Amino acid sequence: PGVIFSGIQPTGEPHLGNYLGALRQWKRLQDTAHPKTKLFFCIVDMHAITTPRPPEEMQELRWKMMASLLAVGLDPDRCTIFFQSTVPQHAELQWILSCTASTGYLSRMTQWKSKLNLGENATLDNLGAKGLLKHGLFSYPVLQAADILLYRTTHVPVGEDQRQHLEFTRECVTNFNHTYKTKCLVSPQTLISPTRRVMSLTKPGDKMSKSDLSAKSRILITHSPKEIAARINGATTDSLNTVTYEPEARPGVANLISIMSGFDPQGRSPEQLGEEMQGYKIRELKEAVARVVSDQLAEVRERYAAFESDKDKLRKVSVQGTEKATLQAGETMAAVREAIGFSD
Ligand code: TYM
Repeated sequence: PGVIFSGIQPTGEPHLGNYLGALRQWKRLQDTAHPKTKLFFCIVDMHAITTPRPPEEMQELRWKMMASLLAVGLDPDRCTIFFQSTVPQHAELQWILSCTASTGYLSRMTQWKSKLNLGENATLDNLGAKGLLKHGLFSYPVLQAADILLYRTTHVPVGEDQRQHLEFTRECVTNFNHTYKTKCLVSPQTLISPTRRVMSLTKPGDKMSKSDLSAKSRILITHSPKEIAARINGATTDSLNTVTYEPEARPGVANLISIMSGFDPQGRSPEQLGEEMQGYKIRELKEAVARVVSDQLAEVRERYAAFESDKDKLRKVSVQGTEKATLQAGETMAAVREAIGFSD
């Protein structure tokens, strides 16, 4: 028994990367974890406002993500499913952690650089001074660390791209516990999803991402079979017309095979599928990938449609989640406050 925590930003319905890299893993953990293991799945709406948008849109995106989490099979009676902004202790712990966290470490993190499309060589000095880098985007990892540490999390299931944030989280634990000579924060382990990073359909060198301006670069878990087929059909491959699995030399084709492997009912590896599909034309590969993705997502799609229109159900799940999360967060914060000297 331990504590599992993970989060997802409500910035649009989940895509195949979110599904294979995170959500499906969450569901598996829910179904296989020890009955005493606590599971927290958080819709991180406070992280999402690093990109501000109209309030009506934010509202809609939050409920869509809640419907998505239920659609993939998370059970609110087994897990705590909640919106980050409804538990104010996340922001409280963020401030506390930021008082022992190192800006040097934060300035080396790659995410804010990639969000600003600036490349690895961007530095704080030349951006911060010009006001281009918002403080919230810079301190984003501190809030993420607070999310995790607030629940005394032992395991965090995420995709490959979150590895650096988890290392930083452990750094926050060391800094805080050392400063206050306490053991009250618990260092979590990263559980990287077994599926490889899902890449963009249009630019196979980049990861599939909700923030990519081209909608054609991704497939959402709510897409119809027709939409799925159209996007796979339009996926960038290369000039060779037969199938081989060569991730370095043929990233577009390899990504399709890797997606197919992620959804393969027999669980075959990309290498194995590449071998078995030798001699297939690219068009045949695309048809096969579209078919298996559509079939495997059929149930999720139906459940999403039902949940999305059931606002009462979604509200109930949120209220129940907030209650359970607040209870646990309160316990951790009492210990943190005592360690600092804030208790009466
Ligand atoms: P987010 O919302 O970008 O993504 C949610 C989850 O999906 C995984 N993922 C991918 N996996 C494989 N291939 C891809 N192309 C791909 N794109 C996304 C991510 O690894 C992630 O597991 N910072 C986090 C949210 C967060 C969080 C947390 C996560 C906030 N607090 C605490 C864990 C614990 C993020 O932006 O995820």
